[in-house]
Amino acid sequence: MTKFEILHKDLMGRIGKLRTAHGDIETPTIMPVINPNIISIEASEMKKYGAEILITNAYIIYRNRDLRDKAQRNGIHSLLGTEIPIMTDSGSYQLYEYKDVEVSNSEILEFQRSIGSDVCVPLDVPTPPYVNWKRAKEDLEVTLSRLREARTLTQDNLLAGVVQGSTYVDLREESARHAAELGFDLYAIGGVVPLLESHGFDKLVDIIMASKRNLPLNAPVHLFGAGHPMLFSLAVALGCDLFDSAAYAIYAKGKRYLTSDGTKKLENLRVLPCSCPVCTTYSVTELRESTDLLAAHNLWVTFEEMRMVKQSIAEGSLWELCERRCRAYPSLVDALKRITNYSAEIEKYDPATKRPFFYLSEFSAHRPEVLRYSNRLNRFDISGRVLITTKEESEVEKFDHVFLVKPPFGPYPVELNESYPVGQSEIPVVIDAEAKTVALQNVLKLMALNKGKANFVFQYDSSWDGHPLFEEIGKYAELVQFVRQAT
Ligand code: GUN
Ligand code: ZN
Repeated sequence: MTKFEILHKDLMGRIGKLRTAHGDIETPTIMPVINPNIISIEASEMKKYGAEILITNAYIIYRNRDLRDKAQRNGIHSLLGTEIPIMTDSGSYQLYEYKDVEVSNSEILEFQRSIGSDVCVPLDVPTPPYVNWKRAKEDLEVTLSRLREARTLTQDNLLAGVVQGSTYVDLREESARHAAELGFDLYAIGGVVPLLESHGFDKLVDIIMASKRNLPLNAPVHLFGAGHPMLFSLAVALGCDLFDSAAYAIYAKGKRYLTSDGTKKLENLRVLPCSCPVCTTYSVTELRESTDLLAAHNLWVTFEEMRMVKQSIAEGSLWELCERRCRAYPSLVDALKRITNYSAEIEKYDPATKRPFFYLSEFSAHRPEVLRYSNRLNRFDISGRVLITTKEESEVEKFDHVFLVKPPFGPYPVELNESYPVGQSEIPVVIDAEAKTVALQNVLKLMALNKGKANFVFQYDSSWDGHPLFEEIGKYAELVQFVRQAT
């Protein structure tokens, strides 16, 4: 029986259904972190915001005698007062911090099992970014031996295979490959919290890609510690399905107001720009006085953004959402640029047809769809006199084939005017240099593919005048500039 079923796909993102002992959940989703010691919003309230699953920390419960006894007597669901699924983290992170109560991998796994956790996590070693390779490798060996042990101990509950390896692509790959070989119900990419804090989002892209390409496609992937809504579209586009958010509470404590394109200091807000139940009921002043209200707003916007991500997957517009979100912050622009390095890899997963392609910025020139189009130019078998033109009103009857040039795709036969993706793409009237360059690279590619069979004429209007690739195009084609119509 498969525990994870994929319902929709876009880029490497998917909408899926995960079966747990306390019911099915739909991914992508965010698990609010419940700290049993510091509760600002009760677990029982979480469903209202859109939570389908929660996450709490088994180690924090384990080291507190009272909480531990209650959890062992009545179960974790009773302790938190909810019947929705609960994932428990092993507390690898907290063990670093407190170190007062020692616990072994097998002990904490047995504890998670005994309290009825829906998803258990072994005691991995979260290696920070940019440590030396040897240390990262040694830590990884420990994580892997604990995963091996975990696989023999936990049978009935869902079990997460944690991926570590610091900022090393080779170690992330090795980690993911070994975890996949052992076989887990889901996989969790760990050790990225310091990168998130330092806004190393481009490196995060490398880490997710290195992990994902070695993990099975039919299992959900959790990105540990990524709770800021501005990151969701990006991480989901790369194939992450589960997120946890302590951010809603941590940012509230620091008087920070989350939005899907960044964080605002409450002291700088004149108005509340959001329309959630909190922001439409209370004033800025009241929010300043209540961390709980601020935490509630933070949760509303967090789930709102996840719904937006889901809708974008369903309608095939996740790239556009990602492009808009990543435009909000310079280090996210770097991440978006980094994603375009992986367009060839992402293209393999991306559905072949979608709704119309919207060109939104120079990054759209490097979307997987554009790369796919370029890869398929060899499907045009052409000979004779061929016109490639940037404008429709040409003397087409003199030619055996007529191609129009549409940035960023490049040449397409006039007959395909209505077809996906070129014919259906929507581009601005004023098109940027990146789109033109990619289009002309594809013109060159088509010409090179049909060299010797076809005689090309390349006709262009003044908006293309003087493009650096014209010299190269001139080697294959007769260049003709449109003359301005007399009025
Ligand atoms: N929470 C945030 N990062 C991590 C991690 O790397 N491992 C575990 N187990 N929990 C985390
Ligand atoms: Zn709000």
